[in-house]
Amino acid sequence: TACGGGGDDSGDGGGDGLVIGFAQVGAESAWRTANSASIQAAAEAAGHELKFVDAQQEQEKQIAAVRDFITQQVDAIVLAPVVETGWTDVLQEAADAEIPVILADRGVEAADEDLYVTRLGSDFAEEGRKAGAWAAETFADDADGTKILELQGTTGSAPANDRKSGFFEVLDAEGLNYEIVDSQSGNFTAEEGKAVMETFITTHGLDGIDLLYAHNDEMGLGAIQAIEEAGKVPGQDIQIIIVDGSKAGFQAGVDGKVNYIVECNPAFGDQLMDVVESVVNGDEVEKFTPVEEGVFDATQFEAELPNRQF
Ligand code: AHR
Repeated sequence: TACGGGGDDSGDGGGDGLVIGFAQVGAESAWRTANSASIQAAAEAAGHELKFVDAQQEQEKQIAAVRDFITQQVDAIVLAPVVETGWTDVLQEAADAEIPVILADRGVEAADEDLYVTRLGSDFAEEGRKAGAWAAETFADDADGTKILELQGTTGSAPANDRKSGFFEVLDAEGLNYEIVDSQSGNFTAEEGKAVMETFITTHGLDGIDLLYAHNDEMGLGAIQAIEEAGKVPGQDIQIIIVDGSKAGFQAGVDGKVNYIVECNPAFGDQLMDVVESVVNGDEVEKFTPVEEGVFDATQFEAELPNRQF
């Protein structure tokens, strides 16, 4: 059935396996690649058929994929929404077709809360607060005000919105004297992160800038290149916070180019399969299940590097 009850007779799944449509964001980062691999491996291990669509960071492609899954009458739809808004119509169509939608990783705006069953992913605001707590402590004695550059993720995405709000919420709560010198989107990619950092450097210079807050590893790594090409020393002339915790991010930490890493954990494939099965069985599930994540400072980078999985 495609109606969220039973779910083992949809035809092409075979056995007890479900047919699950998964509209993934894209392949913009090491995090994303690891996330796709985790979900694909978990679906296979659980004996489910996963119809995987890489939407190349384009919402229209995700909407088209969801419509396609509805036509195919899959048992469940997993959506990692590239941005938070613009989902009402297609989510309503899935609801009308009685196909449960499970959000993975990113969320949608609160107004659409009744149109999906549950979300499994990171608490992005908490990630921002963790970054903010480190910045507030590190720059607490900075009498002339902490000058901050921010590289935001994809405009309108949940992690960009929430990592920003969580970060500045803590700086304000801690009473840090700071100034946002500039804040632009680098779309979660290394290329755009580097290009935006080059513009920051051209516009503002780097003298007197204290901190770069990059919403993911790729943008931070791209920015490090731009900083080095400008003849400055990343991690010293300007302190750097990144979010994700990839191998490359930790290596930059070991090399002294990154000062703080907030972990974002992509390896929730097995947990996601459990959630999908519960939903299809009609079990009660939490509206939001956060994945577990840590933080790492310079004293921990070297010991942690061998443990990184992506
Ligand atoms: O939604 C999670 C974010 O998306 C990760 O931090 C980032 O690397 C990815 O592109």
